[in-house]
Amino acid sequence: MEHAAKQRFLTGITTSGTPHLGNYVGSIRPSVAASQGANAESFYFLADYHALIKTGEPARIQQSTLEIAASWLAAGLDPERVIFYRQSDIAQIPELTWLLTCVLGKGVLNRAHAYKSQVDKNTSSGAEPDADITAGLFMYPVLMGADILMFKANQVPVGRDQIQHIEMARDMAKAFNHLYGDLLVLPEALIEESVATLPGLDGRKMSKSYDNTIPLFASREQLKKLIAGIVTDSSGPGVAKQTEGSAVFQIYQAFASSDETEAMRRAYADGISWGDAKNSLFERIDRDVAPMRVTYQALMAQPEKIEAILQAGASKATACSMPFMHQLRHAVGLRPLAAAQALTPASRKMKSDSPSFKQYRDKDGMFYFKFIGADGQLLVQSDGYTSHQEAAKAMKLLKNGNIASR
Ligand code: TRP
Repeated sequence: MEHAAKQRFLTGITTSGTPHLGNYVGSIRPSVAASQGANAESFYFLADYHALIKTGEPARIQQSTLEIAASWLAAGLDPERVIFYRQSDIAQIPELTWLLTCVLGKGVLNRAHAYKSQVDKNTSSGAEPDADITAGLFMYPVLMGADILMFKANQVPVGRDQIQHIEMARDMAKAFNHLYGDLLVLPEALIEESVATLPGLDGRKMSKSYDNTIPLFASREQLKKLIAGIVTDSSGPGVAKQTEGSAVFQIYQAFASSDETEAMRRAYADGISWGDAKNSLFERIDRDVAPMRVTYQALMAQPEKIEAILQAGASKATACSMPFMHQLRHAVGLRPLAAAQALTPASRKMKSDSPSFKQYRDKDGMFYFKFIGADGQLLVQSDGYTSHQEAAKAMKLLKNGNIASR
């Protein structure tokens, strides 16, 4: 590509829990910051299909979806700038999952860390290797690959534990492209080097599975109480303290400026009491979180508003995924039979100028657009937009992002 193309960022959060400070520092905050870059185009989504792998509690998935969506919005995600959607609203994702399943070697999945560690656990406890492992867990990386490849993402901001999944997505894309032509874009993992993993209440990595988390939107009182419970050594006031290995210090650092961090480092050397250090930590976190908490609570009280935002996001996302899936189906041979005669080697490559766009205003006064395939088939029918500009914007996205990109 000769001109500086926009970088497309894509990331998802599994909707199986309540967002905590570790999620905020490691994922929510950096993703919002990345989306504000001038040359960024961001696709952020709620990975609710992935949540089904982790929990069988329907109410929990729904609640978590609401909480994570509200957290992202409260943290400043602008749904006008970011394509913000729920994975299960995009029918093409499971469809692509199957196409990828059919090109990926099973052995690659056998080597996935998450699956292997379950097998190791079973083997060492004398159980059958695959005991209590669902096919969903085994297939997790393929679904994740489809999330990424569906939208031609270049950069995928993730934690270190997800690097292997991005590598697998590249493998799937290569295998697919090798067979069917250069259609899928190879993604790269984007690891925030400066973001250390946040320690939890007990000093281990903050994680739902260790039950050591501090919820991002705990009330002020709860937050204070939880912070008071973070483990420390037993050194008393006046005794110099180690910053290294101190969970209080590490969490403070994740919120503070470098000047504030330096001041805290000196306070440690000067023997600040744990009570005072924890109080500073509490005030520092609350300074950032308090304004977001107000927005969060307002959003949580209006799930219908969040639903509408997600629906609008889904229609923008679908404007990309639908025509691309059409192209992919064609590439693998899932084609309308009427076109079989016209099949020549040249037609394997879909011409970028063959389909056409049509923008119009309907009787309801709303603005729409259509995307019509070369064969006259209706590929995309947009939802109604309140203005011509909005419809044009969504249509442009579809055009630029997908049709003319190669
Ligand atoms: N597996 C990711 C996690 O648990 C969530 C996720 C699902 C994801 N699909 C994705 C992240 C696609 C990045 C891109 O953190």
